[in-house]
Amino acid sequence: MSPCPDTLAPSEAAVSHGAAPCVIVDTGHERYDIRIGRGLLDDPASWSGLPRAAQAVIVTNTTIAPLWAARLHAALAGIYARVTTVELPDGEEHKDWPALNQIFDHLLRGGCDRKTVLFALGGGVVGDMAGFAAGCYMRGVPFVQVPTTLLAQVDSSVGGKTAINHALGKNMIGLFYQPARVICDLATLDTLPQRELVAGLAEVIKYGPIADAVFLGWIEEHLDALLARDAGALAHAVRRSCEIKAEVVGQDEREGGLRAILNFGHTFGHAIEAGMGYGAWLHGEAVGCGMRMATDLSARLGLVPAATVDRMHRLLERAGLPVRAPALGAARYLELMGRDKKAEAGQVRFVVLEALGRAVVRAAPDELIAGVVEDAARV
Ligand code: NAD
Ligand code: GLY
Repeated sequence: MSPCPDTLAPSEAAVSHGAAPCVIVDTGHERYDIRIGRGLLDDPASWSGLPRAAQAVIVTNTTIAPLWAARLHAALAGIYARVTTVELPDGEEHKDWPALNQIFDHLLRGGCDRKTVLFALGGGVVGDMAGFAAGCYMRGVPFVQVPTTLLAQVDSSVGGKTAINHALGKNMIGLFYQPARVICDLATLDTLPQRELVAGLAEVIKYGPIADAVFLGWIEEHLDALLARDAGALAHAVRRSCEIKAEVVGQDEREGGLRAILNFGHTFGHAIEAGMGYGAWLHGEAVGCGMRMATDLSARLGLVPAATVDRMHRLLERAGLPVRAPALGAARYLELMGRDKKAEAGQVRFVVLEALGRAVVRAAPDELIAGVVEDAARV
């Protein structure tokens, strides 16, 4: 694969859409915008120009519905003749067939036709499942991402990866299916528990080491403001993260090469999530710990100095993310990572750093990986 450019420059396609700054995702055959700002749920401009249909369906969960669904419902009621809501059970452990089927049951019982627009109101779990349902229902209906977690605003709502988990692996069953629009209302983060905000910061931090060393420095400088939910700091973090993700997805929508860098920390992280049982560690927590392990692997491969591992360790720890990995044992980690989607002919491949701001995909000998996971359980 080709390496990531030294720094992905702020997107030239970033434009202003009314009051809401807007980042464009352009895959060559799909183009949509990500609108970022406070109060967008209540702004009619957020919903104008979307596909017309008789029905809109809000897909959300039992936690988010009482907090935010009425606002979205009120906004959509002026546009669609019938707006209904399907509430899924909350949790990564429900990112599965029965919950997905609840969406299909709702759509079929409600007589939804192939123009019905789905609105994914929630975090990455709701977004991934609503997107998957939209991609399958009647062979594809439009959907809009309305992410309500930091993680979803900076990562999962953008780029069209949709999936459910399988007992044998995370996100193993899914589709690439792009949304018609992404609306990041920063006000929805007001109700987000702090642990979830911190988990989302892991995916923000990720963009620094893989693509933008300047952004990494900015995160280090503004970490306290981010943790304190400073509006300006959050807006910049969401916007710069979306710019980088849009740039990567625009170059490589189907993960033929470059897009794999977005999985920095995820090979170790997915093993932690699956090994501990889905839901025990938050996805962002596992990715945070996994990024430290992937940086350590980069150092053991001789790509970056030990100081880079220390720098990532300090930042993740300051953010409140776990840096000590669960002691599952090297054999179990290797078994779990063997199912990673980046594996080729049985060989696991890792996103590693060549420098801060530049990532590549490499295979690594089992002995090095065993050293990483064993040491990570002792830090
Ligand atoms: P999540 O969807 O489980 O949300 C976290 C928790 O916060 C849930 O309990 C949810 O109900 C609650 N919540 C959401 N918004 C809230 C709000 N505004 N106020 C109060 N509570 C709120 O977790 P997540 O971290 O958003 O997403 C993780 C998922 O995203 C994982 O399944 C992961 O695989 C997936 N993911 C997908 C991609 C992608 O490209 N598609 C990228 C990264 C992660
Ligand atoms: N979160 C990884 C990706 O979107 O490719």
